[in-house]
Amino acid sequence: MLLEQPRRRTRAAEPVPFVDLDALHEPLTEELERAWSRVLQSRSFIGGFEVAAFEQDWAEYCGTKHAIGVGNGTDAITLTLRALGIGPGDEVILPTNTFVATAEAIVLTGARPRFVDVDPQTLLVTTEHVEAAMNERTAAVIIVHLYGNVADAEAIVDAAARRGIPVIEDAAQAHGATLRGRRAGSFGVAGCFSFYPAKNLGALGDGGAVITNDGELADRLRSAANHGRAHGSWYEHDALGTNSRLDALQAAFLAVKLPHLDGWNASRRNIARMYRKLLLGTQCEIVREPDETEGVHHLLVARVADRDRVRDLLRGRGIETGVHYPVPCHMQPPFAGFADEPLTVAERAASEIVSLPMFPTMSPTQMERVALALRDAVGAKKPSRRRR
Ligand SMILES: Cc1ncc(COP(=O)(O)O)c(C=O)c1O
Repeated sequence: MLLEQPRRRTRAAEPVPFVDLDALHEPLTEELERAWSRVLQSRSFIGGFEVAAFEQDWAEYCGTKHAIGVGNGTDAITLTLRALGIGPGDEVILPTNTFVATAEAIVLTGARPRFVDVDPQTLLVTTEHVEAAMNERTAAVIIVHLYGNVADAEAIVDAAARRGIPVIEDAAQAHGATLRGRRAGSFGVAGCFSFYPAKNLGALGDGGAVITNDGELADRLRSAANHGRAHGSWYEHDALGTNSRLDALQAAFLAVKLPHLDGWNASRRNIARMYRKLLLGTQCEIVREPDETEGVHHLLVARVADRDRVRDLLRGRGIETGVHYPVPCHMQPPFAGFADEPLTVAERAASEIVSLPMFPTMSPTQMERVALALRDAVGAKKPSRRRR
C-alpha cells in the first residue's frame, strides 16, 4: 500500500534525526492515498485539473496573479532566466552563499554568474553588494532567501529597477516567509520555488513552481516548460522549450499539504525561538533573522568554532546535523572560472556553520537534547573584557 513504511517514534533516548518526514506524513496518509487514487482514476497524469488547481492555490497563497508548475526548483530558475531572454554575453548577480542550483541555472543559460558576498550576520545577499556588482552587462539579479530567512527584497528590487534590471527571487527555502507582511517570491519579476520533499512545502518527488504578476512572462514560462508549444496547440512550437512539467500526482500531494504549511511554519518558528533561548550564553550563535521579516526556518543555522569536532560530538549522542553549505559556490570547481575575488564573509562562514535538527514535529525533549549536547560541545560564552 502507498506510503506504508516502518514508522519510527523518537523517544527521549532515541536518535534525533535532521528531518522527520515520516512524522509529518503520518497524519496525512489517508488523504495522500485518496489523492493518489483520484489521479489514477482521472488518467490525467500530466497537466490537467490537479496541476491547474494547485497552481491557482499556490498563486493565491503567495499573493501573485500566476503560478506555473515546473519539474523542479532548478528548472524554475533556468526557465525564468530564459524567458527573460538572458543568455550568452549577460551577467547575472547572485550571492555565493546559496545551494549550487542557483548558479547552475545561470550557467545553463550561457550567461555568466557574478558572485557577491553576504551580510556577516544574516549570511544573506545585501543591497550594497548587489549595487557594487552591477555593470553594463548585468542582465538580472537573483536574490536567495536562504535558510527560510528573507533577504532585503524591496530595497534590492528598487535598486535594480533604477537601472532597468529584473530581480528573480530564489525562494526554494522560503515557502510562506514574509517581509513586512508580503510573501517571499512576490517582490521581483518572478519567484522560484522547489518542492523537493524536505522543503517546507515538499512533494513526494521532484516539483517546482514560478510565481509572477506578469501575464506575458507566465505564458512564456508555461510554453517554455512544455516544449515551447503554441497556446492551445500540441504540434506547433513557437519557441525552443524543454520538458519540465509538474506531475499531476505531485500537484495532488502538494494540495493535500498546502493547508498545513502555515501551521508547520509556526511550529518551526517556535522551535527556533526555543533553540535561541536554550543556547543563550553559549559560544554558539544562531544566524540572525533580518528585521521586519518573518522567516520560516527551513534550516536552523548556528555558527560555532571547531565545527567538525562539534558535529562529531553531536553525532556521538545520536544527533544528526548538516552543513549548508560547506563550500561557497564560487569555490566549487564548475564555477571557479567565474570567481573574480575572494568573498571573505561567505568563505569564513562556510567553515563555522552547522545546521541543527529542525522539523515541525520536533518535540521539546528532542530540542532540549540537541541544545544540551551543543552546550556541552561549545561551552559558555567567555565574559567580554571591559575597558576601564
Ligand atoms: C536555494 C535553492 N535554490 C534552488 C534549489 C533547487 O531546487 P531543486 O532541487 O528542486 O531543483 C534548491 C533546492 O535544494 C535550493 O535550496
